[in-house]
Amino acid sequence: MSAAVFKCIVVALVLQQVIAGDHQRRGKELLDTEDSDFFRCKQATRKSCCGPENSMKRFGDKDKTAADQCYAEVAEKFASTAGVTPKQDLFSTEAVKITKKKQFCLHECIGKKNKLLTEDGSLNKTFITDYSMNTIFKEQWQKQVGEKALAKCLEETYIPWPTEETEYKCNPVYVQFQHCLWLEYESNCPDDKRKTNKKCEKTRNRYRMQKSSSK
Ligand SMILES: *[C@@H]1O[C@H](CO)[C@@H](O)[C@H](O)[C@H]1NC(C)=O
Repeated sequence: MSAAVFKCIVVALVLQQVIAGDHQRRGKELLDTEDSDFFRCKQATRKSCCGPENSMKRFGDKDKTAADQCYAEVAEKFASTAGVTPKQDLFSTEAVKITKKKQFCLHECIGKKNKLLTEDGSLNKTFITDYSMNTIFKEQWQKQVGEKALAKCLEETYIPWPTEETEYKCNPVYVQFQHCLWLEYESNCPDDKRKTNKKCEKTRNRYRMQKSSSK
């Protein structure tokens, strides 16, 4: 499965949970959601529609070195399970669950390698703040939007790993954090920085971020 497909599965998954905004949800639902992740893939995108550059792209791993290493590591870790999943069962609950687990593990690995996460996979707030403010949010308007997004997403309560899922346990925080940051950044994008192409309009509609500075 390609990186792009992996990515959009998780975006769709997390999107649903973030939008639902119910932090009391049980961790169980993190992997057991019955949403149609796979089929929503096309609309779910983490491309930025705010500002001239796609600043959020490969957040924390701009040169992609950790990503390549982590794909290999995670693939190896999951090799035994993935190997016994027949192709026709790609959309079975179990297969979807494994795919989601892989995705959480992959991002945890990437975050750790880039030092954005601590040893246990939780957010290193100091590092993330410094990194974001120096590397991602360069222009003044970006810093304003970014600072606000960081303040929210670094303190957000994320859905924990389901306690009964002991196999291939990972810390699912980083995926959720990244989505939070993207969503906040895009939602609070100043009017004059908003890209107006069809794709972006669609994304904004989907995430209900038509109106700027509404928060
Ligand atoms: C978090 O990152 C800072 C560097 O910004 C580092 O000094 C610190 O040791 C890190 N904390 C942990 C718990 O890894």
